[in-house]
Amino acid sequence: MIYLDNAATTLQKPAAVGNAVRRAIYGLASPGRGGHSFAKKGAETAFKTREAIGELFNVKEPDNIVFCMNATHALNIAIKALVKAGDRVVISGYEHNSVYRPLVAMGAEIAVAASPLFRPYQCIEAFNDAMTWDTSLVVVNQISNVFGYILPVDEIAELCKARGIPFIVDASQSAGHIDIDMVRLGAAFVAMSGHKGLYGPQGTGILIAGELDHLSIKTLMEGGSGSNSRGKTMPDFLPDRLEAGTHNMPGIAGLLEGVRFIKEKGQRKIFEHETRLVTYAGRLLAEIPGVSVYISDRPGCQSGVLSFLIDDMLCEVAAEELSKRGIAVRAGLHCAPLAHETAGTIETGTIRASFSAFNTRDEVRAFAAAVRDIIEKKKGRKEYQNKYNSINNAH
Ligand code: ALA
Repeated sequence: MIYLDNAATTLQKPAAVGNAVRRAIYGLASPGRGGHSFAKKGAETAFKTREAIGELFNVKEPDNIVFCMNATHALNIAIKALVKAGDRVVISGYEHNSVYRPLVAMGAEIAVAASPLFRPYQCIEAFNDAMTWDTSLVVVNQISNVFGYILPVDEIAELCKARGIPFIVDASQSAGHIDIDMVRLGAAFVAMSGHKGLYGPQGTGILIAGELDHLSIKTLMEGGSGSNSRGKTMPDFLPDRLEAGTHNMPGIAGLLEGVRFIKEKGQRKIFEHETRLVTYAGRLLAEIPGVSVYISDRPGCQSGVLSFLIDDMLCEVAAEELSKRGIAVRAGLHCAPLAHETAGTIETGTIRASFSAFNTRDEVRAFAAAVRDIIEKKKGRKEYQNKYNSINNAH
């Protein structure tokens, strides 16, 4: 199988990730829950993981890095910490349901700073116009999970800072791909998955808290923290305040190896590899009659993710046909109906191919050949049907 669904989860992981998970299952107990050597090893691994993540994202205080189960969990903590009913929250037109639904659940007044696909200047303008004096929060997706569109987050951050509006960055599709510098960015929170571009196991996510009063962060869950056990409420310090219950040590140990892999290989190199593949795939697909590709030719606008459509074929059917030919992609709305509404693909959805450090040019060629084959077979069936109909009508 050629795996091109890395925006959902990277399935090809560095070998060290799997090995670390296995070792952790048998060797790492719960950090902060005992003085024995297994608990100490667990605490050490959790700390090393926070340190490695801290280095990658320039986080000055590793304790501001909170382990979560996924990006949705992290975004829920961030959004629910900062939003109350009736608050005006400005979001991009490319947000995932993991942002949209918590905002709806909180009763926020959602203002969408909508702008066309791959048009960063219009995006900045849309945010500038939408950020009225009564805006309490901005939430922005750094890379669209559907189109691989890289939004101008640095410029949006500057707008927020100039107006004193806190902002959250959803880095689920950008972490491990492009630079994120917590100090320079100045976000209240950055949330991300651990199991996509960071190559950790599923069940890992990260929330990085910026410079804000940690006691003001409402907890999403309460329970054991391994600290201040006599207290009736969660501790007032991070990460304990937001990490109730036993840690996912196999996940955390695997995540550490994923982050190490990125450092060893070089984030920039990985990104260049992925974007070369996406450009190549875009070119091959665009040469096939009956295929529409959503791709940008502006430098710095597109990550290793692209969407496309095949004329007169449901995207789910196309994905099924690709799967029969050994290609794994994702089709539909990708849990991001807002992104499809903004891009004008809400009625059709799209077929998405997303690349990782492990994909190759040969795989891209096989993928494009499979798309061509699907279209040719469909054309063949149609021609046969037309011929059959005309013979039948003649009788
Ligand atoms: N948000 C993930 C995706 O885009 C799951 O597939």
